[in-house]
Amino acid sequence: MAEQGLFSADLLSPEVQSVLPEGYQLRALRQSDYDTGFLDCLRVLTTVGDISKQQFDDRYRWITKQDGGYFILVVEDTNANPPRVVGTGALLVERKFIHNLGSVGHVEDIAVAKDQQGKKLGLRIIQALDFIAEKTGCYKTILDCSEANEGFYVKCGFRRAGLEMAHYYEGPKSNKAQQ
Ligand code: ACO
Repeated sequence: MAEQGLFSADLLSPEVQSVLPEGYQLRALRQSDYDTGFLDCLRVLTTVGDISKQQFDDRYRWITKQDGGYFILVVEDTNANPPRVVGTGALLVERKFIHNLGSVGHVEDIAVAKDQQGKKLGLRIIQALDFIAEKTGCYKTILDCSEANEGFYVKCGFRRAGLEMAHYYEGPKSNKAQQ
């Protein structure tokens, strides 16, 4: 039996799965993804650091305790031997008091392996996160991105709204270079 992932397979869009290239699988992140290419995908996005298996497991377990608030999905190329994670994306569901206890989805850490870019995997990851956002009752989904990626998100159905601001903190866990 396949290892259980971070969240239920009911939250995986069948439509997105059906249009992925042959042998590519949409699934929830698994604890065993420490060495399947997941972290290397994230390295395309930013600094990841030298994370040990123990640290990975600890963070994975913490995320599992967020009780429907944190979803990380991956696209795996099962044609590769061994199968390899080639794309990932995350959705954080923020449950509010405003808007009648409304929920807002935050799209985070979208990354497609360099050699897999341009195959619509990024678009499929966003569509899969949109599916989770709708299923979990979000009334909107928001994200921050660089100017260089604006065109990609416009193709995914997003539009510019508001102004991003940031306050960085000094310290080992919030290195400015990692943002
Ligand atoms: N600017 C304009 N259009 C773009 C860009 C871009 N930077 N990237 C892709 N597109 C277009 C494609 O041409 C395609 O258009 P089409 O439908 O007319 O053919 C459409 O967007 C979909 O592109 P995909 O093939 O799905 O893009 P890809 O799989 O290469 O993924 C991504 C795009 C995720 C930005 C990828 O290039 C990547 O991983 N980049 C490095 C990491 C990164 O910057 N991630 C986003 C950070 S922001 C955040 O996480 C919230």
